[in-house]
Amino acid sequence: MTQRTLVLLKPDAVRRGLVGQIIGRFEAKGLSLVEMQLRTITGEQADQHYAEHVERDFYPPLRAFITSGPLVALVVEGEEAIPVVRTLIGPTDGRQAPAGTIRGDLSLSNRENLVHASDSPESAEREIGIWFPHL
Ligand code: PPS
Repeated sequence: MTQRTLVLLKPDAVRRGLVGQIIGRFEAKGLSLVEMQLRTITGEQADQHYAEHVERDFYPPLRAFITSGPLVALVVEGEEAIPVVRTLIGPTDGRQAPAGTIRGDLSLSNRENLVHASDSPESAEREIGIWFPHL
């Protein structure tokens, strides 16, 4: 089943010059880019995107981080794209993510973990609607 998913290459990915390498992994897997934009978001936009987490203890540092500089938002499409992208990214904490995943190979943090991707069809629909309402 072809799916679309919302991916953010977080400000650490832009600062570290890893955008091309990370997108290259999606392309190498056979996924397609449907939309892509470099954007610096406000705290209010972060609150909308992370609505389910705004009350969590970890949210204030996450909010500060995600608004700290430009990020790349993209919509990725392909067969089972939602779980496939999550598998390519790896678990949240880069220190525990297995080698071979993006976080496992490139991150040592659970905050500066380079990538966000929708975790379900419902969140993909919601997040694509926030970032790219014309889709
Ligand atoms: S949960 O409880 O399973 O829903 O949370 P999880 O998926 O592990 O994390 C949700 C997002 O919060 C980020 N996160 C943090 N940010 C800053 N500081 C700390 N300590 C922290 N812990 C988790 C994590 O990177 C997830 O971001 P996204 O963008 O959704 O991957």
